[in-house]
Amino acid sequence: MPVRRQIWGRRQGPGLKPARRKLLEERLPALRVVLPEHGMLDPSAQFAEPLRGFRLEIGFGGGEHLAAQATAHPELGFLGVEPFMDGVGKLVAQIDESGLRNVRVLPDDARLLLRVLPDSCLQRIDVLFPDPWPKARHQKRRIVNRETVVQMARVLAPGGELRLATDIVDYARWMLEATLAEPRLVWQAERADEWRLAPADHVRTRYQAKAEREGRPAVFLRFLADK
Ligand SMILES: C[S@@+](CC[C@H](N)C(=O)[O-])C[C@H]1O[C@@H](n2cnc3c(N)ncnc32)[C@H](O)[C@@H]1O
Repeated sequence: MPVRRQIWGRRQGPGLKPARRKLLEERLPALRVVLPEHGMLDPSAQFAEPLRGFRLEIGFGGGEHLAAQATAHPELGFLGVEPFMDGVGKLVAQIDESGLRNVRVLPDDARLLLRVLPDSCLQRIDVLFPDPWPKARHQKRRIVNRETVVQMARVLAPGGELRLATDIVDYARWMLEATLAEPRLVWQAERADEWRLAPADHVRTRYQAKAEREGRPAVFLRFLADK
């Protein structure tokens, strides 16, 4: 069934600075993931060089986590999805400054990409601090939900990892409800307070830093694909 684009947050801020706009015009066409009209999207076909595997980050915000991961793993290809163009501009600036060759960007709704990715094609998916939508009537807008979790489990390779993080306790509960209903995902929490600890290679995000300053510590949930 076709997925309609549903972006509830902002796509444009008060206005991109002219230099950022120019950078996006010049660099985004070569970095952009183009969704196929028919059929599936082969992640390896997005990159100029052969890579050992692929990861996805959904809602990368300012791109600091994605750029750091891509720098640490030049052998992997990274797909980043973010509909907010100011965030896309920030990531493209980091790609340009660091000369990263292993990042591709979809400036759109992540669900449009999830539905065209082939089964078992990703080693890892990160969804870090997705928009919380705290009001009950808005919760259906949450990007982590039963449908997207089924898609994420489908596209993860056996042994692949799903990482979720949030500063909203109710969203953590909601994320657990959606993921524990998915038999292909196994929650990796061995100790009671494991979810308070960031994974060793986690890079603090802009949103996370703000939440911590405001007294909302992060909850980290890690799952492995068992299939
Ligand atoms: C609260 S921010 C967190 C950003 C970043 N991960 C961080 O931790 O700083 C959530 C991000 O998800 C993005 N987003 C919202 N809807 C989305 C969608 N349908 N697909 C992908 N990203 C989305 C927003 O534009 C925003 O940048």
